[in-house]
Amino acid sequence: MKDHLWKKIFARVRHCSRRFLIAGCLVPLFATILSGCTTNSAARPSDKIKVGVTIYDQYDTFLSQYMDCFTKELEAVEDVDLVVYNASQSQQTQNAQVKKMIEDGCDVICVNLVDRTDPSTVIDAAKKADVPIIFFNRELVEGDIGRWNRLFYIGADAAQSGILEGELAASTCLSDKSIDRNGDGKIQYIVLEGEAGHQDAIVRTEYSVDTLIKKGVEVDKLGYAIANWNRAQAQTKVASFIENYGDGIELIMSNNDDMALGAIDAYEASGMLKSDWPAIFGIDGTTVGLEAVRDDKMTGTVYNDKEGQAEAMYRLAVTLGHGGSIEELADEFEITDGKYIRLPYEKITATNINKFLSR
Ligand code: GAL
Ligand code: CA
Repeated sequence: MKDHLWKKIFARVRHCSRRFLIAGCLVPLFATILSGCTTNSAARPSDKIKVGVTIYDQYDTFLSQYMDCFTKELEAVEDVDLVVYNASQSQQTQNAQVKKMIEDGCDVICVNLVDRTDPSTVIDAAKKADVPIIFFNRELVEGDIGRWNRLFYIGADAAQSGILEGELAASTCLSDKSIDRNGDGKIQYIVLEGEAGHQDAIVRTEYSVDTLIKKGVEVDKLGYAIANWNRAQAQTKVASFIENYGDGIELIMSNNDDMALGAIDAYEASGMLKSDWPAIFGIDGTTVGLEAVRDDKMTGTVYNDKEGQAEAMYRLAVTLGHGGSIEELADEFEITDGKYIRLPYEKITATNINKFLSR
């Protein structure tokens, strides 16, 4: 589905949301608009499979681009009906959506958990109805995925993204002495963190900083801020760092691109000369993130392979929906423990940006 179509859909849902939330009707409306098909499973031909998806937050930039890729893959397939729900950051809403998708006859359900520590209702409902679940992007804990043999996870290795971000930052700090603007031999840095408790926030923060230090950069931590993957929240937090430290921040490592862009927004709003900005790094390689690298506002980012993850999810959904097993994908994807497919991350800087901009 094209970017502008998603925007139109989301705008329409946003427009209607107050009215429909009150009436409790937002969910079916959203699903019907997005799927462009009926939710009445009895009406579909028997050879068609039905795939349901619920995402934790429709306004998340990376996930909305991921879903663009996923729907594009599925649009090309004629024997699949798709319904997509937005959980609006409520696990309770998501639990109800999963139950509804089961009632509506979904053959397989893809769940981007709101609360990755609370998948019990989803798992119990799916197990009872014998409908396989593909969790994606927000990884549930190992004990939970082991609760049934038809639970799967598609995502990436959070540690790898942190290591690659740390390596990018280290090579910039070691090769460009002007990063150490005050010349004290140390890099004054801050970290922008995603949601508390999210695997990608905890692990990326730990590994990016550890890697920077292991590579031989002497560091001086000025602080960190949790900005929930969100550009506006990051802008507010970084604006207050700028108030405290002026041009004393030399490096910002962000858990994702949107928060790195929020930092850039804060520097732009501060009116500070670009030469006094810190080096800023993100993770994701969203369209806006890539453009910031191209425009030399972000020094580098790490590609979170939304195309690869969406393709793996589409292939697994169709395979499971037709009664097949994950092993059928063994030639195409690396499968771990019969349950996990993780796509690799890649480093992005000004030198290889064109390859990613043209994806
Ligand atoms: C991460 C991604 C973030 C955000 C988050 C949501 O993998 O880097 O930008 O989308 O997932 O769970
Ligand atoms: Ca310094």
